[in-house]
Formats: sequence, C-alpha cells, structure tokens
Amino acid sequence: MIPNVDNDSLVYLNGELVRLGDAKVSVLDRGFIFGDGVYDVVPAYGGKPFRMSEHLARLERSMAAISIQCDLQRSDWEHIVLDLIERSGLGDCVVYIQVTRGVAKRDHGFPQGVKPTIFCMVSPFKRPDAAMREQGLSAIGKTDERWLHCDIKSISLLGNVLARQAALEAGVDDVIQFRNGCLTEGSAANVWVVKNGVLLAPPRSKLILEGIRYGLMEELAERCGVPFEARPITEAEVLAADELLLTSATKEVLPITRYNGQPVGDGRPGPVYARLRAAYDTAIAAL
Ligand code: PDD
Repeated sequence: MIPNVDNDSLVYLNGELVRLGDAKVSVLDRGFIFGDGVYDVVPAYGGKPFRMSEHLARLERSMAAISIQCDLQRSDWEHIVLDLIERSGLGDCVVYIQVTRGVAKRDHGFPQGVKPTIFCMVSPFKRPDAAMREQGLSAIGKTDERWLHCDIKSISLLGNVLARQAALEAGVDDVIQFRNGCLTEGSAANVWVVKNGVLLAPPRSKLILEGIRYGLMEELAERCGVPFEARPITEAEVLAADELLLTSATKEVLPITRYNGQPVGDGRPGPVYARLRAAYDTAIAAL
C-alpha cells in the first residue's frame, strides 16, 4: 500500500499495464541508483492531453541528450498516454512519463545491451483554484545551485527539491532562482517578468528548462498583442517588476504577487497576467 495514491490505478511499466500498488522496479535500476533518467509531465483536460506532441518531442530530446535509446516510436508513446488516460476515467489529469537507463550492475559508465525502464502513470490534476488565480503566489529569491544542464528534463532533481523545500521552510510557495545575478527559473516552473507592458523571459539556454509553456506563452503574447523579449534579466529587474508570472504544466500560468516579503507591483495580479490567463484558458477550451 502506497499512501495517498490510488493503488488500484493502472500504470504502464515496460510494456505491461499493472496496478500502481503492484508495480515494481529492481533496486539496481539506474534511476534509483544514479538518478540516471529523464521524465516529462503532460497535463490533460477533459481526458484530452494538452500539447502532447510538444511534450513527447521534449521527452525524445531529453533521451537523446543522455544517449538513452528506446524502441518506442512517437505513435507508441501517444497510444500509451491516450490509453492510460482513457482507462483511468479521469477528466483533468496529469500523465507522468519516466525513462531510465535500465537495470545493471552498479557502475557509473553506461551498461551495454540493457533496455531502458519505461514507466507511465496518470493522476488526478488538481488545477490551480480561484484563490491562487486571484491572490497569486509568494516567492523568495535564491541562488541557483543546480548543475549546468537544466535544459534536460532529468529525474536527478535534488537541486530542485532542495529549492522547493527552502521555499516551504520560508513559508512561501516557490523560489525564484538566480545564477550569476540573472534570473533562471522557479523550482519546477518558468518565471516571467512584466515591465512597462513588455513580457520578458530569460533566453532559452542550458541554464533553464524550456517549458512547453515557454513557446506557448510566446504564441499567446503575440495573439494578445503583448510585446515579448527574451534576454538576461537581473535580480534588480525582478525586484522592480510590474508583474511576475510563473508557468508549468501543473501550475498553468499564475501570478507571483509577493516577492521577498514585498508586494509585486500593487500586490494584485496585473493586466498582462489577466490577458495571458484568459488566452491560456481559451487554448484549453479549444482542445
Ligand atoms: N516541471 N522548469 C522546471 C525546472 C520544471 O521542472 C518545469 C516543469 C518547468 C515548466 O515546464 P512545462 O511548462 O513544460 O511544465 C520549467 C514539471 C511540471 C514537474 O517537474 O512536475
């Protein structure tokens, strides 16, 4: 019995559908031993995955980046995701996909002739509620202490885990991380700055994960007539922001209304957030 999950829900493990409570992986799995694997998280609304092809393309890029070869084709992944969602009977749900380098004797170098371990599960999606949308989130600034390949969606998430815990221990929702004085991202989300009506984001680089919402926000900004600029953003600019926003598959798009104990702008969700939020909801409704 695993607490706080539906042990009877079906998960995909190495080509089979099994009960979550019965799914077992070897202790020698390199995901367990080394954190040697990648993952992705696909949100779905009313049983329909949102931006699935972008998520699967990123999963393939993550696998390629760490030289994991897997037999599954794009259509196989799509089938697994859609089948799990359908069998779950869930409407709004989140599909977690993880691929590790597989099971082998513990040795740092890549093992030969080992098949990756492939795991997928679906869980209910508790979407951000009205209070979160209307009051916004709180965050503190923190030095980014993670590695230099944050562009890979690696399951080695210790830096992100410690960052989130630092936020929770400070009584806030998340951190805004900085490397060499420039904004990177949150513990599990991209962070955006609005200044004088312009939406700003750090450029795509190895220092951030390019969220699927990164490209989506660019699209939505264009659709809403909000100018967008990707460029390095200093800590001082974050402090002086008119609005701060955060995006991820599970947080969607939310305002950060308190930063380092101070209100952001007037402390309420701003007009650029309101436009992008409405455009995000429209994109979901069009599914
Ligand atoms: N996290 N940056 C980091 C470090 C992330 O972990 C995530 C997503 C994002 C946003 O990516 P996207 O828009 O594709 O969700 C940015 C997922 C949700 C997680 O780890 O659960």
